[in-house]
Amino acid sequence: MCGIVGYIGNKQVLPILIQGLRRLEYRGYDSAGVAILDNSKQTAVNRVRSVGKIDNLADKVKTEKMEGTVGIAHTRWATHGGVTEENAHPHFGCDEKLVIAHNGIIENYRELKEVLEKDHTFTSQTDTEILAHLIETHYKGDLRMAVETALSHVRGTYGLVVLHADHPGTIIAARLGSPLVIGIGEDEHFVASDATPMLAYTKKVVFLDDGEIAEIHKDGFVTYDLKDKIITKHVEEIEWDDEQAQKQGYDHFMLKEIFDQPTVFEDAIRGRYDIDEGTAHLGGLNMNDEEMRRVNRIVLIACGTASYAAMVGKYAFERLAGIPTEVDVASEFRYRDPIIDSNTLVFAISQSGETLDTLAAVREAKRKGAFVRGIVNVVGSTIARETDGGTYIHAGPELAVASTKAYTNMVAIMVLYAIQFGRLKRITLATGQRLINALLEIPEKMNLVFEQNENIKKLAEKYKNYRDFLFLGRGINYPVALEGSLKLKEISYIHSEAYPGGEMKHGPIALLSKDFPVFAIMVKDQLYDKMRSNIEEIRARKAPIILVATQGDERAKELAEDIIYVPDTMELLEPLLNTIPLQLFAYHVAVMLGRDVDRPRNLAKSVTVE
Ligand code: M6R
Repeated sequence: MCGIVGYIGNKQVLPILIQGLRRLEYRGYDSAGVAILDNSKQTAVNRVRSVGKIDNLADKVKTEKMEGTVGIAHTRWATHGGVTEENAHPHFGCDEKLVIAHNGIIENYRELKEVLEKDHTFTSQTDTEILAHLIETHYKGDLRMAVETALSHVRGTYGLVVLHADHPGTIIAARLGSPLVIGIGEDEHFVASDATPMLAYTKKVVFLDDGEIAEIHKDGFVTYDLKDKIITKHVEEIEWDDEQAQKQGYDHFMLKEIFDQPTVFEDAIRGRYDIDEGTAHLGGLNMNDEEMRRVNRIVLIACGTASYAAMVGKYAFERLAGIPTEVDVASEFRYRDPIIDSNTLVFAISQSGETLDTLAAVREAKRKGAFVRGIVNVVGSTIARETDGGTYIHAGPELAVASTKAYTNMVAIMVLYAIQFGRLKRITLATGQRLINALLEIPEKMNLVFEQNENIKKLAEKYKNYRDFLFLGRGINYPVALEGSLKLKEISYIHSEAYPGGEMKHGPIALLSKDFPVFAIMVKDQLYDKMRSNIEEIRARKAPIILVATQGDERAKELAEDIIYVPDTMELLEPLLNTIPLQLFAYHVAVMLGRDVDRPRNLAKSVTVE
């Protein structure tokens, strides 16, 4: 849940570290710090830390003399100890020669601290500082060995980087449960929690695996396992460029990412469908037709927005392939002794590929003998690597904490999978072709939804001061309502709930009044009339109504004056369009309320704690 960046080379390291932290700020942003080996006195480490966003740290370092070409930095999302400068990373050992930045949780930190406290002085409440002192205890001149020995006493998770003033040409990096990537440049090397801090300098990267420790120098690196055996690593080329990771003229990453959707949707489906056969080919499934036919149950595990995408996927799998499909929130799945057999196919769905709950659920499912496939955005992420195959959703870097384009592409991939299974099991060539043609029209139709942006902005202005919202949808638009409600609450901090339209009369209707607006999705599909009746019930209670309705539905005007029109599409694909107005509404409300849209309070992009 924190971000780490390190550099060793010939350049002045401070701007690289600060810039790198800005790229990683989505991982946590309650405090930050840098530690740099002092070039003038090779035996000293200069450290500056500050509470708050990276901007605060950037201001603070301006007044410090921090020159050097080797350094590490960290942006924190607090787990142990409050948000204070003392608890911000990097942390020193006692003699201030050894410094460490860490992401993860040391579970046995209390036991370790009790022992260490006899000879070491602690200055923070963090679990990380224990690591600094533990490594210091084991340091006998060989830094990697000291880290390795210290880690053998640790229970928990870590991605960590260590510097020592006596080893100015070395950064040690180790990983267990929290991601670390090494970037390979010309006479320089990088290490970070993901590849974004290094993209401006190199696209050549190596992903550390759990239980690996790397000794990094400016001209190379060596990776070991924790038993000291050298591991040969595969160098990969990152496709994202630095510019892709920027805002490209939009005020916020979230807005850019909403508008990215038509393009990245095309990236998701390109080369993965076969119009002649009316089917899809997602090679990453690693199953032959016979194995696919044997699948008699699908379980989709995910968290947050990814779980709402999964709920759409359930409709697609059941309707097209006739395979009973369950959606399980990952944090529940792992603890409820799930029933899995060899004919159950499990998909783990995750933007970051690092969500701890989802990862733990993957491990649990594999332990029970399931085939687990990933539907993941971040290439080389832990879930991508730990699953038995799967498909990248190709949404590109998603930096806003609120997920938008990843959701769309997750849905796209699940629909493609459902078509692929469906063609083997029950849908006709014509149905397959109709679906693929409808998918191909989606980017253009998304652009039509964007034409509603000004209208949505006006609605945001009108509704921004309400304190509560109810989102309603039926059938495949129920997950859309859930997603719209999540978007609004997470970035605007306005309370909202989502219900299936038919459930309203079983309780939530009691909430309705002129002060409780309802955002309802009432598009022309098989549940249109049912949804209309629900809206009539709301009108009778005088609650303000915002409708998402199908272009050309004049009757919608009898029910509400505030309408966002969306193009018609096949029912299974409706969420790909209908979610967008809800994303834009949440965005505009949050901007108008002066919220930090890209980095809402209390949240982090990558949730790597339980
Ligand atoms: O990276 P993942 O897709 O696994 O993340 C899952 C959730 O943490 C994530 O979708 C979260 O709910 C977002 N803040 C939603 O906008």
